[in-house]
Amino acid sequence: MMTKPFSQACENNKKPILTILSEVFANTNHVLEIGSGTGQHAVYFSQHLPNITWQTSDLLINHPGINLWLDEVDNNNVRRPIEIDLANSTVISNTWKQLSAKQTIDALYTANTLHIISWSLVVKFFESISQNLSLNSHVCIYGPFNYQGNFTSESNANFDLWLKSRDVNSGIRNIEDILALAESAGLKLIEDHTMPANNRLLTFIKHS
Ligand SMILES: C[S@@+](CC[C@H](N)C(=O)[O-])C[C@H]1O[C@@H](n2cnc3c(N)ncnc32)[C@H](O)[C@@H]1O
Repeated sequence: MMTKPFSQACENNKKPILTILSEVFANTNHVLEIGSGTGQHAVYFSQHLPNITWQTSDLLINHPGINLWLDEVDNNNVRRPIEIDLANSTVISNTWKQLSAKQTIDALYTANTLHIISWSLVVKFFESISQNLSLNSHVCIYGPFNYQGNFTSESNANFDLWLKSRDVNSGIRNIEDILALAESAGLKLIEDHTMPANNRLLTFIKHS
């Protein structure tokens, strides 16, 4: 039998992230999460934001683990995972179409994904926001970033080395590059929040 996956990082960061999501998603109805991972964030945020429908997504390989977490909750505002693979443009556009046929997705959330995927997929991530997310939607992106090409801590520098040792295309992104892509996707930065453990939470609104 499969063991339920567990991320200690999610346990550590979920409360400070929730504090900000509660404000940013105050008028939000339907959130799409990209790269739900274990599913812990989805479970916790949906429990604490009961007026929001939380749609989980990830590569198919992570669906069984997310489902084990969802099996244990009785709130009905968190949705079973759908497949979103940023490497597969057809899957993304079909998935957005299917989702949008049911409800308007008015927010997007992702944590610790942009340093895992390659830069070309980071570009696709913002392209899919540009093409599919409706005006005035909010976007929240959590993770570590570099500023003016510099790591913000020694632990982030070591983390980047570790990331690149397992996948040369991964790595901590420069905030300036992320903000440039976000702007071209029609996103306006609301705030760049300082978070524990040298992470950031970027909040945006789609204005065009
Ligand atoms: C470090 S985990 C973060 C998981 C979770 N959001 C968290 O904060 O713990 C990175 C996530 O990105 C997902 N991922 C990797 N490649 C992807 C791709 N091509 N498209 C969509 N998600 C991808 C992984 O499956 C994984 O869930």
